[in-house]
Amino acid sequence: MIRRFALAVFVASAVAAAAASWSEPHRATRGMVVSEHAIASEIGVAVLKAGGNAVDAAVATAFALAVVHPAAGNIGGGGFLLYRPASGEPAAYDFRETAPAAASAAMFLTDGKYDAAKHHESYLSVGVPGTVAGLHLAWQERGTMPWRRLVEPAITLARDGFPLSESLAASLARVLPSMRRHPASMAQFSKSGSPYAPGDTLVQADLARTLERIAADGPAGFYEGETARLIEQDMAAHGGLISRADLKAYRPERRVPLRGTYRGYDIIAMPPVSSGGTALIEMLNVLEGFDLASYGWGSSRHVHVAVEAMRRAYADRARHLGDPAFNPSMPIATLISKEYAASLRATIDLERASVSSPSSFDWPPESGETTTFCVVDAARNAVSLTYTLEAGYGSKIVVAGAGFLLNNEMGDFNAGPGLTDATGLVGTAPNLAAPGKRMLSSMTPTIVAKDGRLFAAAGALGGRTIINTVLQALLNVIDFGMNAQEAIDAGRFHHQWLPDAVVVERHALSPDTLAILTSRGHAFRETGALSVAEMIVVAPKDGKLTAGVDARSVDGAAAGY
Ligand code: GLY
Repeated sequence: MIRRFALAVFVASAVAAAAASWSEPHRATRGMVVSEHAIASEIGVAVLKAGGNAVDAAVATAFALAVVHPAAGNIGGGGFLLYRPASGEPAAYDFRETAPAAASAAMFLTDGKYDAAKHHESYLSVGVPGTVAGLHLAWQERGTMPWRRLVEPAITLARDGFPLSESLAASLARVLPSMRRHPASMAQFSKSGSPYAPGDTLVQADLARTLERIAADGPAGFYEGETARLIEQDMAAHGGLISRADLKAYRPERRVPLRGTYRGYDIIAMPPVSSGGTALIEMLNVLEGFDLASYGWGSSRHVHVAVEAMRRAYADRARHLGDPAFNPSMPIATLISKEYAASLRATIDLERASVSSPSSFDWPPESGETTTFCVVDAARNAVSLTYTLEAGYGSKIVVAGAGFLLNNEMGDFNAGPGLTDATGLVGTAPNLAAPGKRMLSSMTPTIVAKDGRLFAAAGALGGRTIINTVLQALLNVIDFGMNAQEAIDAGRFHHQWLPDAVVVERHALSPDTLAILTSRGHAFRETGALSVAEMIVVAPKDGKLTAGVDARSVDGAAAGY
């Protein structure tokens, strides 16, 4: 009897504990890094422990990911670093790739017809890399530790190697067939043509030497001298366009972050050439007018209004956004205004899905591979960084003698002028290739503050799903009271205006919810993992750092102290 009573109490308290929190976040007191690889997170935290700030740790983490997470960590790609200091103004560092000087809007055509291989899988698909210059600019303006100290852990990892996890070995085995055309790629990522096994040590000696030049000479170690010579030589031998002059001319941009508010929280987000910040703030503004908390997570009403906000923001993204240097009159201020959101909200019928009208165009493919990480230091300076090679392993081309993968980011430009059609080609002007132009991105590094203090840093990968994933992570915390881990674990859905369907993770929504939404006119397509997100939230109760690590990417980890 007593034992039965004890068991009943145990079960009741376990249920009560579960009701309070069904998935515990990783916790730390002083500093924290959450990334897609445990080794990279540990390297970032070691920098924090040694007295570096969030930007120092971000630089070291980014270089480490370029070694241990070759699918997306990179020095041959580009991305965005968003920084919010504990005091002072936030900054956005844009190191998106640029089109080389010989690029043109029609460069992806062959005999007047669109050539997808040129666009996505050739030396022509490579943009001028921005990562090294962007990390250096952020470090120069905000870092405190010696540059060499931040690159050195990556040099050691590349030179001495690191053990391949099961998932990285499997990923390399999957990508090898598409590397067979590129001998330097095969040499770097296979054992004489055979896949590595889990536990094997991956040594990247050429990469170590390139990183050594970067450690010694900063950006000049990449954009000039031996590395630039090796890139130009590889390009010239295979019909690529990037020259040493393009490399030398590359400049990262420091931009003013976009600012929005959501239910009393300050949203700091990436401006164009990312579409992420604009679309995120637009959706948050629309959703602020709905009482999501009272609807309940996963209710038909929650999903309905979120999908309708997504539909409208993605339509605006397609119509208006591109490189600001080439599109000086983009209506960003309007798109992120509360007034515009109110006008969009007025078009949402709570009982019926809107219909996306393919007035003239659909979407080109955009890869789901990118990587993201967040850093918070003891002073509560925060970084959210997302960078990419575009596809997993980018162009699959390792620069011979230099040991790093080149991006295929030119595929994020529209296909070509006049190519717009119902099959998904896009030829609209704001995002056509042109010399020196940056291609439109969905990457959405985001930082949230409350009452002047850091509240959260978040980011995601997954091509166009990135923006909606960051949106849902924030809603899960702010509206639905989830902790950082619960917010990342929760199932996701995605609508991008066209095609007019909601992509939903398997088991994310109940059959009842799906049935109600279907009866209201929504179409669903089920998928596995939609995207991967990482997040750090400052716990409101005690100011501790809590991380949400996305189990959809199995090597991901938080490290803190
Ligand atoms: N290539 C993915 C992005 O820039 O959003």
